Amino acid sequence: MTQTIYTNCAVATMQHGEANYGLIPDATIVAKDGRIDWVGASADRPPEYKDWPEERLDGRLVTPALIDCHTHLVFSGNRAREFEQRLKGASYEEIARSGGGISSTVTATRSASFEQLVEESLPRLDALIRDGVAVVEIKSGYGLTIEDELRMLRVARHLDTLRPVKVVTTWLAAHSLPPDFADRADAYIDEIVIPGLSRAAEEGLVDAVDGFCESIGFSPAQIERVFKAAQSLSLPVKLHAEQLSDLKGSLLAARYSALSADHLEFLAEEDVPEFAAAGTVAVLLPGAFYMLKETKLPPMEALRQHGVDIAIATDCNPGSSPLSSILTAMTMSCIEFGLTPEEALSGTTRCAAKALGLSGQYGEIVAGARAELAVWDVGHPAELSYWMGGTPLYQRLATGALK
Ligand code: NIG
Ligand code: FE
Repeated sequence: MTQTIYTNCAVATMQHGEANYGLIPDATIVAKDGRIDWVGASADRPPEYKDWPEERLDGRLVTPALIDCHTHLVFSGNRAREFEQRLKGASYEEIARSGGGISSTVTATRSASFEQLVEESLPRLDALIRDGVAVVEIKSGYGLTIEDELRMLRVARHLDTLRPVKVVTTWLAAHSLPPDFADRADAYIDEIVIPGLSRAAEEGLVDAVDGFCESIGFSPAQIERVFKAAQSLSLPVKLHAEQLSDLKGSLLAARYSALSADHLEFLAEEDVPEFAAAGTVAVLLPGAFYMLKETKLPPMEALRQHGVDIAIATDCNPGSSPLSSILTAMTMSCIEFGLTPEEALSGTTRCAAKALGLSGQYGEIVAGARAELAVWDVGHPAELSYWMGGTPLYQRLATGALK
């Protein structure tokens, strides 16, 4: 049995229903066998923990370790040249339609070896870890053949073994149509996306299923076929929806009880009640909003009014969001989307856990949850969204039960 008491710290529990970050100014956390056994004001610590070993944290702030619930961080190369083209006036869609965009990363990723993909992806993962991240979602989507998609997920699973993080994998073969299937999107879904998903499930490589529902991606009808396949394998779904236009992908996601719908700039206000009723998390991606100089905002007030849980993620990818700092994503979400620093933190803890189907296990400091904690050199949790590009992490406390 391993047992530790963390004391002399402030704790933002981020527990559901608690106001003001669930902040406890002079707190104690008791961890036992990798799980939280007790958390509360130090003065209330039950006597049964009296003789347990103690670690004093010198007044620092403790939060749940952070979660990045939407990344494409396994890829090869970069698209800095496209960034230059966009700055000269080309749009993301124009570049995609002329064979650049996702396709150019597909070419680079297919030709990289397994080892090379690991080597190129690790620095991005390490950057997230330096920001206090313990759980990272990683999507496929730059292979677009069954073998290349499976290989991306194998790289993601391998990253999980190299670092003290939990990697959650997502099948995103319905990301972009490869040139050999030009004008045959339905055949691509039938011949690659669905059979590849079955293989990924058989090999235990996949935790959830995603798609890019957009005019430059796949139609709602095509995505629905992928969702049906996911359902038959008992895998949860999520969707890139309403990023560039309103195809009602978020409502499709809601009908399939999706874990999350992501981006959502073009989500119509009148669709929010139906979306909210499904309990699907709205994942906002401020890096993509920023890099694509988007001006259309998601319907923030409607999302709040209807009690939709809002998560924030980096969307780390070489095209629309070459961002590997979750803290920067939090800062951006406050400025771009008007989130409060408290919403930004719940967006990378409790709500991000929900977006990955990990509610109650990660993202909250509550009895029974995994004792995955981040200790910060800050006085107040608002500072986590405030220091632009700062490195306020003092230490990640991983107590052994991460995976
Ligand atoms: O989430 N929207 C589609 N997928 C990514 C972009 C991928 C890329 O441009 O390489 C996104 O923004
Ligand atoms: Fe994405």
